[in-house]
Amino acid sequence: MTTPLPGTGTLFTLDPAVAHLNHGSYGAVPVPVQRAQARLRAEQERDPDGFFADLPDRIARARAEVASALGGDPARLALLTNVTEGVAVVLESIPLAAGDEILVTDHGYGAVTRAAERRAAETGAAVRCVRLSPHLADEHAVRERVLAAVTRRTRVAVLDLVTSPTARVIAAPTLLAALAERRVTTVVDAAHAPGMLPVDLGGAAGGADFWVGNLHKWAFAPRAAAVLAVRAAWRPRVRPLMLSWEHDRGFPGRVEWRGTCDYTPWLAAPAGFALLEKLGAERVRAHNEQLAAHGQRQLVERTGLRPLPATAGLAMRAVRLPPGVAESEHAAKALMVAVQRRLSTRIAIRPWPGGGVLRISAQLYNRPDEYTRLADGLAHLITR
Ligand SMILES: Cc1ncc(COP(=O)(O)O)c(C=O)c1O
Repeated sequence: MTTPLPGTGTLFTLDPAVAHLNHGSYGAVPVPVQRAQARLRAEQERDPDGFFADLPDRIARARAEVASALGGDPARLALLTNVTEGVAVVLESIPLAAGDEILVTDHGYGAVTRAAERRAAETGAAVRCVRLSPHLADEHAVRERVLAAVTRRTRVAVLDLVTSPTARVIAAPTLLAALAERRVTTVVDAAHAPGMLPVDLGGAAGGADFWVGNLHKWAFAPRAAAVLAVRAAWRPRVRPLMLSWEHDRGFPGRVEWRGTCDYTPWLAAPAGFALLEKLGAERVRAHNEQLAAHGQRQLVERTGLRPLPATAGLAMRAVRLPPGVAESEHAAKALMVAVQRRLSTRIAIRPWPGGGVLRISAQLYNRPDEYTRLADGLAHLITR
């Protein structure tokens, strides 16, 4: 049984009446990081002109700290608002022409796949979606399926490191290497990686051409903090979504600066990594993984639902709902609402043909009995 890590009981300000088993969607900002951001905002309001005057330099310092936590080179890394934005920047930067193909999988994040579809429509390229059974046994099976879909026309592959609906690893290092051998440009959606997994970008983009990760999910940063890491050869070709005063300074400043807006999430992001370090990143990860595994066991044992294969080290797990349950967007949302209203529990459910997928997360604020209560309540809800 997972025991709470000492000193973490008052780290979060979540409503105690709700079991928040969905850290993977929007994260939760710990109190010390909330305070760090509040201090920055107060400073900004005391002297807006002074605050903005040296902001690009402060952003560069925050970026260097974030890069050091992720093993990246600050010159090849840009801070961004979120993965949605990062993927849009990347897709704008990769030249595509009629007849080219962009490879995605059916486990990809909806907004990311839509961005690929729009870019394809604008350039005459096509999106090829690889269908992967949620029950595929392991990374090897995933790799074979993805590589089998590569054609002479495949220019780009947009792949998740950890998938959102099914909590499994797709863009493993061996798959990225095999795609590079085939001259496919790789874009890794690593939305869940920073903080959840030990990340070492290796001074570049973690074995990919582009690697985009959120800091506001598992790295305890305030919301609207993410990173884009870019392989050296691509650096001069990265095209920001809009022009700014920083444009002539090149990457990364030209991607980061978007005029007047709230940059405090980036400046406070190092406080998130510092907290993780102080708590012991390994201990946090071990705690979260064990708790997520416990949660999945409870769901399987108490409801008879089928587990999806789990990847070691992840703080999220998924189970398959029965055929006919949550197969449409509408039905999945309705079941999430029912779980929230009747069981006071937040979880993620995505529609899937043949039975939706329910995902649980585990974070320091979760307790084993929250999963037991969910399992017992869910059994009742889906058999009614
Ligand atoms: C795999 C994956 N990609 C992208 C995103 C989008 O993240 P954001 O809304 O921060 O852009 C998410 C969010 O849950 C995700 O899980």
